[in-house]
Amino acid sequence: MSDRYQTLIHTPIGQLLAKNLGLPNPVTLERWSEGSPLVTGTVALGGDGRLGDVLVTVLDELGIASVRDAPADQTYKGLVFDATGITSSDRLVELQEFFTPLLRSLETCPRVVVLGTPPESIGSGAERVAQRALEGFTRSLGKEVGRGGTVQLVYVAPAADGALASTLAFLLSPKSAYVSGQVVRIGCHGSTAAEGVDDWTAPLAGKVALVTGASRGIGEQIARVLHRDGATVLGVDVPQAASELQAVTRELDGDHLTLDITTKDAPQRIARHVMETYGGVDIVVHNAGITRDKRLMNMKGDTFGSVIGVNLTAPERITTELLEQKAIRPNGRIVGVASIAGIAGNTGQTNYAASKAGVIGLVDSLADTLGDGITINAVAPGFIETKMTAAVPLATREVGRRLNAMSQGGLPVDVAETIAWYANPASTAVNGNVVRVCGQMMLGA
Ligand SMILES: NC(=O)c1ccc[n+]([C@@H]2O[C@H](COP(=O)([O-])OP(=O)(O)OC[C@H]3O[C@@H](n4cnc5c(N)ncnc54)[C@H](O)[C@@H]3O)[C@@H](O)[C@H]2O)c1
Repeated sequence: MSDRYQTLIHTPIGQLLAKNLGLPNPVTLERWSEGSPLVTGTVALGGDGRLGDVLVTVLDELGIASVRDAPADQTYKGLVFDATGITSSDRLVELQEFFTPLLRSLETCPRVVVLGTPPESIGSGAERVAQRALEGFTRSLGKEVGRGGTVQLVYVAPAADGALASTLAFLLSPKSAYVSGQVVRIGCHGSTAAEGVDDWTAPLAGKVALVTGASRGIGEQIARVLHRDGATVLGVDVPQAASELQAVTRELDGDHLTLDITTKDAPQRIARHVMETYGGVDIVVHNAGITRDKRLMNMKGDTFGSVIGVNLTAPERITTELLEQKAIRPNGRIVGVASIAGIAGNTGQTNYAASKAGVIGLVDSLADTLGDGITINAVAPGFIETKMTAAVPLATREVGRRLNAMSQGGLPVDVAETIAWYANPASTAVNGNVVRVCGQMMLGA
């Protein structure tokens, strides 16, 4: 769906109006294209923590140029600050000392990452306080950085210091175009290790990925990105969407299964199909979802129930069946698609928000139990340009689009790239996360 305002504001007259009237002036976000390097520029490194050496090695491995003691008269595509050495609040000023001189030297769509130690893993009160403070710093810088820039905080459990590669590859590249102000935890649930990746251009080679709701919108794009990264995609959608689903999966040399995920035997049919055809599945993306919006005072039982059924009960039942059948292979990935509505709530969406908060509950309930290197994470999209959001009334749509640090809606590919990061075999230590793909929307946490 097109954003007419953004098109208009990029004309000469639009730029004049934006400047004189103080209107939102959304930057055209850079997005990754096949064959491009992960980062087109240099990343300046700072901070004095335990991750300094690891950082240089990982960035080298990823082909990302980096520099320490970066002079402020050069320009940088990214800044990474190792804040794991900040053990008391009086040392928080080291953040200011590093960032302030360099913020004017950033290129467009810059990437900023701060690395810390998960506060809950720290015994000492002073260090715990200082590490927790990083959250306020990064979330605020995300709102300040501008020019399509993003800022994230990555808490790395000490045992997971070697598991940073896939996360830095994502957060420093244009793949994370619409992800900002997020707090990611690595190695805090289950595995702290990372499987090596031979070929970063096809990290999912040999993997089988199940994507529900794959015939259109975000699901279609997830299928395309996972295929781009080397996976064989099994798309699932309702019988009414069979021809669109087939068209997508045919183009991707994939496979399809037409069924309504809420039917009684859907979990068994899916499990049987993946076992008989592939001997198991590596990546499961619960993307299919519906909205049936009404204020609670006007809501009927079946309207409420159908949304819970598709968005929450079906992913729960399918996950349980696949796990019970041991159909998810070691180092497998389960990904839920939640929503910002499940975090912040939304008028007319008690049913939808309950279902999406439940998806976050599914992540919380399973993250510590899966074993075998299997992970579960969720994305929580904000305003993404799809048929679902095209149906939203104009005024609400404009508010959704502009009330975020990027002043624009995201694209389905932004959600898909986040899922591809979770799916990466090197992301075994990325478990139990809920990352918002919302351009740092003003609503919610
Ligand atoms: N678009 C947004 O801004 C946004 C924001 C937050 C979350 N999300 C979530 O992202 C996901 C995809 O959203 P979208 O905008 O692409 O929606 P969409 O309506 O364009 O696509 C949803 C897909 O799910 C399929 N589906 C619905 N019910 C099904 C069922 N019972 N069995 C099998 N397939 C079923 C549909 O046929 C469709 O292909 C949903 O879970 C949605 O809640 C979207």
